[in-house]
Amino acid sequence: MFRLLVTGGAGFIGSNFVHYLLRHTDYHVVVLDKLTYAGNPASLLGIPENRLTFIQGDIVDAELVRPLVSSVDAIVHYAAESHNDNSLSNPNPFLHTNVIGTYVLLEAARIHGTRIHHISTDEVYGDLELDDPARFTEATPYNPSSPYSSTKASSDMLVRAWARSFNVAATISNCSNNYGPYQHVEKFIPRQITNILVGGRPKLYGRGQNVRDWIYADDHSSAVHAILTAGRIGETYLIGADGERDNKSVVELILKLMGRDADAYDHVPDRAGHDLRYAIDSTKLRHELGWRPKYDDFERGLSKTIDWYRTNESWWSASKFATEARYGRSGH
Ligand code: NAD
Ligand code: DAU
Repeated sequence: MFRLLVTGGAGFIGSNFVHYLLRHTDYHVVVLDKLTYAGNPASLLGIPENRLTFIQGDIVDAELVRPLVSSVDAIVHYAAESHNDNSLSNPNPFLHTNVIGTYVLLEAARIHGTRIHHISTDEVYGDLELDDPARFTEATPYNPSSPYSSTKASSDMLVRAWARSFNVAATISNCSNNYGPYQHVEKFIPRQITNILVGGRPKLYGRGQNVRDWIYADDHSSAVHAILTAGRIGETYLIGADGERDNKSVVELILKLMGRDADAYDHVPDRAGHDLRYAIDSTKLRHELGWRPKYDDFERGLSKTIDWYRTNESWWSASKFATEARYGRSGH
């Protein structure tokens, strides 16, 4: 049976990928996750023991990582500190996990000759003007803005160097903004949904003109599986579902879908260095691997997501208070 190590498999997108593999393959999945504030073992509930081994640990711990890597056929590396706002208040864990953690995994992959797919972000390319006709492609120069995106860019550079210098069998994907069930309530969409569910109001940074390119998490998972199984070694693939929306429209749509007035939200101070627009051109992935997103109706995906947060309050309620206390301290 094919054994796959998934780092960060108790996080939002990593756990979605584990569930995707359960439905679409017969792999045995080994999850390595530190269970930081962002990891939640409840996101993996219901998976039979013969399909999943869960190990709590830090990807920086080479003594733990090396034997683990020797016991699997491939690695998909999701583990990261993932939130821009946190990286502005304390960059340190971002350097630890995103840079050193990726280095430790690459060394283990080099020593054991293990295939590795590295999960990255469109934020490594910086941002676009609102009226720029161009979108990000695999050839766009790196230009990260935040401590988070600069550590993700660093990790991509390490992967490229290990592939070229040591022939590590690596691929990279850079995806746009994900949404869907199991996303931590610190992130934009679940924060607004749960604010409304607890009787509060959505919080919009600045004027809300910033544009993000939304993709339903299941579509990210199907793209990663396509790259893992059929992608060309050494290549980078951009993943996106043509889902550009400005933040103000997204807040207004959430309010409408939840039966509230479209202007029942608060403006809060803008994020420092806030990227204006991300937009992905995923032509390479679509042409080479025949991948297509299944969830191309944003309003339907958002409705499903709202329903999930409404019926799974026990999954998010424990972290809601701490998250809002943190935002309160930073004025957001
Ligand atoms: P998340 O914050 O929800 O989950 C991260 C997971 O990694 C958590 O389970 C956490 O416990 C674990 N983790 C953190 N540090 C660790 C360490 N040192 N050792 C082991 N485990 C550790 O993040 P997410 O939104 O699911 O993002 C997953 C990956 O996808 C990240 O690499 C991120 O950069 C990338 N990505 C995210 C998005 C998005 O929209 N969320 C888009 C593109 C790419
Ligand atoms: O583009 C991919 C990236 O998308 C991933 O690499 C990151 O891991 C992921 O967190 C996400 O980064 P963003 O910074 O775009 O996502 P976030 O959910 O933090 O914010 C989305 C937009 O919403 C951004 O323009 C900031 C704004 N925002 C955010 C919050 C939390 C608000 O207006 N109000 C809020 O309360």
